[in-house]
Amino acid sequence: MRIDIITVLPEMLEGFVNVSILARAQRKGLVDIHIHNLRDYTTDKHRRVDDYPFGGFAGMVMQCQPIDACISSLRAERPYDEVIFTTPDGEQFDQKMANELSLKQNIIILCGHYKGIDYRIREHLITREVSIGDYVLTGGEIAAAAMADAITRLVPGVLSDEQSALSDSFQDNLLAAPVYTRPADYKGWKVPDVLLSGNDAKIKEWELNESMERTRRLRPDLLK
Ligand code: 6GU
Repeated sequence: MRIDIITVLPEMLEGFVNVSILARAQRKGLVDIHIHNLRDYTTDKHRRVDDYPFGGFAGMVMQCQPIDACISSLRAERPYDEVIFTTPDGEQFDQKMANELSLKQNIIILCGHYKGIDYRIREHLITREVSIGDYVLTGGEIAAAAMADAITRLVPGVLSDEQSALSDSFQDNLLAAPVYTRPADYKGWKVPDVLLSGNDAKIKEWELNESMERTRRLRPDLLK
């Protein structure tokens, strides 16, 4: 799978996508993440990518030309399954969307900035508008990073223990059960006895009960 991220702040994302699991996924050739600096695509001699909004509104608006040029040059190389725009008024990103997107071949994520982008881009080039929650960030880079991370870890072969993505919180609309490691007794804080019993059936039953209880208590909305 290939993810192309278009941003005015490439340095914000380059570090992120080149460490830990995202770096390993790319080294293994499972995922290919490319960051594009929007300014490289402007025809403006001062490398500006924004301008004042028509109508005398406040703030700056990202212009059509550099965004169109960048998306067009990518599309000339390969077909894209989705051209995603990060925006607080988009559809909310969740595990289901991460699963769906992890099955795609090529996606573009355009990071929003300033007061927004020229609406004609959203009408003509964007296939999906996505938010990561009900709060406002200064730009879409953190949203793009969150999406790239959540999607990448679902690509087969990225996680060493394939089971660990399947037992994630949310994968089955349940929060994950607690986990423990050695020692079994730390300063009198004990690990639940059942986990030391060696009885696999009992342990599975305990895990499901813990998941259900935590979900009921902390996220009853997931049980609907
Ligand atoms: Cl995708 N962008 C911005 N600027 N703020 C957000 C967001 C996106 N998702 C939640 N808040």
